[in-house]
Amino acid sequence: MHDLSQFTHADVRWAAQNMPLLLDTDLTPLKGLRIAICLHIEPKTAVLCALLVEAGAEVWLTGSPGTTRQDVADWLTTLGVHVHAAADDDAPRIKAVLTSDPQLVLDNGADLIRALLDSGLPSEFRGGTEETTTGALLLRQRSEPPPFPVIVINDSPLKLLVENRWGVGQSVVQGFMNATNKMIPGTRATVAGYGPCGRGVAQTLRQLGARVSVADQDPYRRLEAALDGHQVGRLDTLLADTDLLFLATGHPDVVSDEGIAALPDNAVIAGVGHCPWELDLQRLGPPTPATGAGSARQTADHETYIQPDGRRITVLAKTRMINLVSAGGNPIEAMDLGLTLQARSLALVATGRAAPGVQAVPLDLDREIAETFAATLELS
Ligand SMILES: NC(=O)c1ccc[n+]([C@@H]2O[C@H](COP(=O)([O-])OP(=O)(O)OC[C@H]3O[C@@H](n4cnc5c(N)ncnc54)[C@H](O)[C@@H]3O)[C@@H](O)[C@H]2O)c1
Repeated sequence: MHDLSQFTHADVRWAAQNMPLLLDTDLTPLKGLRIAICLHIEPKTAVLCALLVEAGAEVWLTGSPGTTRQDVADWLTTLGVHVHAAADDDAPRIKAVLTSDPQLVLDNGADLIRALLDSGLPSEFRGGTEETTTGALLLRQRSEPPPFPVIVINDSPLKLLVENRWGVGQSVVQGFMNATNKMIPGTRATVAGYGPCGRGVAQTLRQLGARVSVADQDPYRRLEAALDGHQVGRLDTLLADTDLLFLATGHPDVVSDEGIAALPDNAVIAGVGHCPWELDLQRLGPPTPATGAGSARQTADHETYIQPDGRRITVLAKTRMINLVSAGGNPIEAMDLGLTLQARSLALVATGRAAPGVQAVPLDLDREIAETFAATLELS
C-alpha cells in the first residue's frame, strides 16, 4: 500500500487513494530527467506530477486553457514543480516551460511538440507522449513526421474504451447538469460526432432518459449509432428538434448557419472536443452578458445569443470541454488508466525503446495495463 501522506492537498490525496495503477508504476526510468508537461492542472494530474518529482524528475508544467485549478497549481509549486499556469490563462504557456530545454515532453493537444518542431530541438531531447485525438491529428497532418518518438496515448484501445467512452460519457453529462441545473429525462439531445467520446455521451444521455440523435460524417459511425438504437441524421436537419447539442467531432466549425437557424428557442450547446472550435461563435452574433446557473454547485459561464427572430441560444463556457469546466474532469479511475499509460509510455521513450515518429501505445503494454485494471475491478 502506497503511503499517501505526501499528498497534503485533500483533493489530491482523494484522487491518489483511487489511483492504484499509477501509484504502482515504476517511475525510476524518469529519474533525473527534465520533463515539460502540458495538462489540465487538477487533482488527478497533480498525482502524476507529484510522483514524478518523488521519482527524481524535474517537472516543468503548464496548463491547458480554462481548466487550471489555482489551489492545485499552488500546491504543486510547494513540491518543487516549476508551474507556469494560472486559472485565468486562455492559452498554455508553452515558451515558459520550453526554457527548461526538456529531455521529454508530456503533451495534451500537441502544443509543446509543435512548438519544438517549429523552433528546434533541445540538444538532449528524446521524445514524448501526446494525450489527445486532436493533438495526434495535428501531428499526423504535418508534411514530415517528427524525428523523435511520440507515443499517442489516445490510440490505446484501453483508453478509448475506458476514458473516451465511459469516462467522458459520465463526466460530460455531469458537467452539463452541474452547469445548467436542467433536466435530462425526456430532453431532445443531439450528439455531433460518434467517436468513442460522442458514443459515451449519447449512451449516458439515453440511460438518463433523454431522446438522443446522432450526426457523423463517417458511414460506419452512423451505422454504429443506428445499431446502438439512436436516431441518426444530418446535423442541420437534426438541430430543428434539439434542446441540447453536444459537440464531439474534434473538428472546427461543424455547425452551419442553416443549423443555427433551425435550432429551437432556448437550445443549449456544450463542448466535448479538445478545442473550443467546433462552433464558430461569430455565427451567433453578439451574446448577452454572461450569467451563471444560480443553484448549481459548479458553474460554467453561460452566454445567451438572441437571434434576429427572437430565439435564444445558450452556449456553455464558449464550448470549452464541459466536463473539465464544471465536473472536475474525467472520473478518477479513467484518469488513473490514462496517466498510467502516459507514465509507462514516457518511460519507453526515455529509455530509447520507441522508434522515431507518431505511434500508438505498444499493444503488449496496453494489454498488460488492461489486465491490471481488470484485476482492480476483480474481473480477472
Ligand atoms: N472532454 C474530454 O474529457 C475528452 C477526452 C478525450 C478526448 N476528447 C476530445 O473529444 C473529441 C472526440 O474524440 P474521439 O476520440 O471521439 O474522436 P474521433 O475522431 O474518434 O471521433 C470524432 C467523430 O466525429 C466525426 N466528425 C468529424 N467531423 C464531423 C462533422 N463535421 N460532422 C459530423 N461528424 C463529424 C468523425 O467522423 C468521427 O466519427 C476530440 O477532440 C478529443 O480530443 C475530449
